Amino acid sequence: MHRYFDRGALVKKMSRLAREELKHYELVLAIINRRGIEYKNLPSSNYVPHMRRYMRSLPLDLLVDELIVGAIIEARSCERFSILIPHLDEELATFYASLLASESRHFEDYLTLARTYATEDITSRIKLFTKIESEYINAPDSVFRFHSGIMN
Ligand SMILES: [Fe+2]
Repeated sequence: MHRYFDRGALVKKMSRLAREELKHYELVLAIINRRGIEYKNLPSSNYVPHMRRYMRSLPLDLLVDELIVGAIIEARSCERFSILIPHLDEELATFYASLLASESRHFEDYLTLARTYATEDITSRIKLFTKIESEYINAPDSVFRFHSGIMN
């Protein structure tokens, strides 16, 4: 069977990853609740849509690009958690450190899956998306989020 049709590894890994992310979401909700912070739905930044514009359109190419972008998002999360941790109270610092550990695992998972489903070497795609991502993160942004550009 062509690898494109064998999505077993993808489904298994992503299902676990999604469950873990939802667990984190629930933990965040509990902390927000305990601290008396009102839950608000915040519109997303343009971070992911910006990278989406550079993704290829054929299904398998799109999957590989999405997985590469997934890996980059996780890596950027690691960077942001590690910068924030020294400035947080003990409860949040411990929680964020646990998130950082998960995100670094997710980074590896996404990259492994991208390599599994790619039909050719993905180095040039990784280079392209890290460049696009880095340019976005270092440019002025109008929305302040975990993955935003620079705020003035
Ligand atoms: Fe993650």
